[in-house]
Amino acid sequence: MSLTPLIASLPKAELHLHIEGTLEPELMFDIARRNGVTLPYQSVDEIRAAYDFHNLQSFLDIYYAGAAVLLHEQDFYDLTYAYLLRCKADNVVHTEIFFDPQTHTARGVAFETVLNGITRACEDARREWGISSLLIMCFLRHLSEEAAFETLAQALPYKDKIIGVGLDSSEVGHPPAKFARVFEQARAEGFLAVAHAGEEGPPEYVYEALDVLNVARIDHGVRSEEDEALMERLIAEQMPLTVCPLSNLKLKVVGHLNQHNLRRMLQRGVMVTVNSDDPAYFGGYVNQNFIELAAALDLSEAEIRTLCQNSFKASFLSSEEKEAWCKRVAEA
Ligand code: ADE
Ligand code: ZN
Repeated sequence: MSLTPLIASLPKAELHLHIEGTLEPELMFDIARRNGVTLPYQSVDEIRAAYDFHNLQSFLDIYYAGAAVLLHEQDFYDLTYAYLLRCKADNVVHTEIFFDPQTHTARGVAFETVLNGITRACEDARREWGISSLLIMCFLRHLSEEAAFETLAQALPYKDKIIGVGLDSSEVGHPPAKFARVFEQARAEGFLAVAHAGEEGPPEYVYEALDVLNVARIDHGVRSEEDEALMERLIAEQMPLTVCPLSNLKLKVVGHLNQHNLRRMLQRGVMVTVNSDDPAYFGGYVNQNFIELAAALDLSEAEIRTLCQNSFKASFLSSEEKEAWCKRVAEA
């Protein structure tokens, strides 16, 4: 029996989503036109045809180029509002959104322009549809520690709008320890911490994210399975992994979805969650990730419910909110 109706009906949270990665080709074209930005593509079809990636870097090159159409507060509003509409369609009732200020400030866009546009859309979605959201500001790890410190300083007046800091972009060659001092300051300022680790990088990067950056979650983390002691630690600590199946497929972290280790990790008791990462680039929003993964790994109804409950347990919601949503998932 198809699990699609169950997947669609269950409330869920999304914990690994880059807002710049929700820029659909149609919106990219619209915004480019109104901002007078020339894209290296003639049509939406041509953009989609360019989305043929062989690793993380080949994706990032195209992703940063696409983000260059975003200039004004309204652009960031439209981008975020469109994503939150997808949340509504997928029954995502809570989302923790990554944004990359450096991608925009490097082009002369003010930090406030980015933050205000995103925040205003989140406020509207909460009022219109009851969707809650939190923002996580990511540092680009291919840039310097100094640049990350500058970005952290820009965020300090907006502590009420940003719950945490994260680390993304090119993983290999840029280990978490490069940002040890930035994360230390960020945590001292009251930000929570997460980091991408173990997507293309080795298990050592996951250890560093835990021990040096003191993260509350690991983004991706799928390569943790290569280190048995690390797996045992993740299980013992119930350290969440925000896994992104379609992303892993499109970036060739796995050859086929039926080779994905999410179900194995779930069955061992790892706190894994399902997320979309950059859905405009990887072929689907969160429900599509569930649907394709369920088909490829033959997930059971109980496993789908557990994954939805994990999405709340691993979130930054209060324990009361977590409990209430987990109960809703059990009863739905
Ligand atoms: N930025 C956007 N998506 C990313 C990913 N999957 N890994 C690292 N950086 C990213
Ligand atoms: Zn990511």
